[in-house]
Amino acid sequence: LPEHDIVVLDEDDFDRNRIRYVATWGPKPGSLSHLPALEAVFSLGAGVDHLMSYQGLPDVPIVRVSQDDLTHRMSEYVVLHCLMHLRDQRRFDAAQRAKHWDQDRAPPIASEVRVGVMGSGVLGQDAARKLKVMGFDVAAWSRSPKSSDGYEIFSAEEGLAAFLARTDILVSLLPLTPETRGILNRSLFGKLARDGRLGGPILINAGRGGLQVEEDIVACLDDGTLKAATLDVFQTEPLPQDSPLWTHPQVTVTPHNSAVSDAEMTARYIAGQIRRHEAGEPFQNVVDPRRGY
Ligand SMILES: NC(=O)c1ccc[n+]([C@@H]2O[C@H](COP(=O)([O-])OP(=O)(O)OC[C@H]3O[C@@H](n4cnc5c(N)ncnc54)[C@H](OP(=O)(O)O)[C@@H]3O)[C@@H](O)[C@H]2O)c1
Repeated sequence: LPEHDIVVLDEDDFDRNRIRYVATWGPKPGSLSHLPALEAVFSLGAGVDHLMSYQGLPDVPIVRVSQDDLTHRMSEYVVLHCLMHLRDQRRFDAAQRAKHWDQDRAPPIASEVRVGVMGSGVLGQDAARKLKVMGFDVAAWSRSPKSSDGYEIFSAEEGLAAFLARTDILVSLLPLTPETRGILNRSLFGKLARDGRLGGPILINAGRGGLQVEEDIVACLDDGTLKAATLDVFQTEPLPQDSPLWTHPQVTVTPHNSAVSDAEMTARYIAGQIRRHEAGEPFQNVVDPRRGY
């Protein structure tokens, strides 16, 4: 954006009256206040929970990042981990370390395994479509009713129990909002299908750490309510050294990198949105602060 001056908040000296756009992840208290010329705030990620908790959010469009590279990375992660659980790959990793030839059974095939994707937005839809291509029996869950070619979408509180009852692998791609905080808890895990081919329900959370109750995950893994979990996001990040999740034999931990936004692509996206706006076009991927996503 050569026609614009760019400053770094909290580092550069600048005139607050001239700031038209802010790009931020988690703004410090007060940093978005007293910007009279502000036209939009860009979230530097797909999620906006860090922004939504800002006290006194300015009354301008809040635009989030939604780009193909991020979406494709997330679907790669979801498909990878669904396949990993389908094929019990962690067991073969352990067998290899023990030099043990562990060839004793045919695993189920994907069509015998029911994946339930929580969140049927940009990420959930792409992941669901690609899981279908791999043969999984897919369904999704969203806040509002919607339909999709090829898989069922359950919605709202009314649809949740039926969605969980047909789910062997639960994939969470929800935004963190007041409604979804702590949703991945013992009560919900207890409603997952127990008659599946994988020997117990499996959780994959790549949405946000605040969605999950980690104490419940560990307890449910220990008592068999859950069979295994893949977690990319955590209540506290980086995951504290003393978290039992690090060493739990049934847990796969990744460092919130299922779908990292590429800095250059994010910059291009934001520049593109500013150009659209200045050409009189509406911003894309505008967040609704009342819904929180
Ligand atoms: N781990 C990572 O690296 C990473 C990277 C990128 C994003 N993320 C997370 O992924 C989240 C989803 O991204 P997205 O681009 O797919 O968002 P999105 O397009 O806004 O989709 C959100 C989906 O969640 C559903 N939803 C929201 N609140 C709900 C509720 N209370 N009950 C049921 N469904 C609800 C929405 O339902 P409706 O369709 O009815 O609106 C929608 O289907 C982001 O918010 C972010 O937190 C994580």
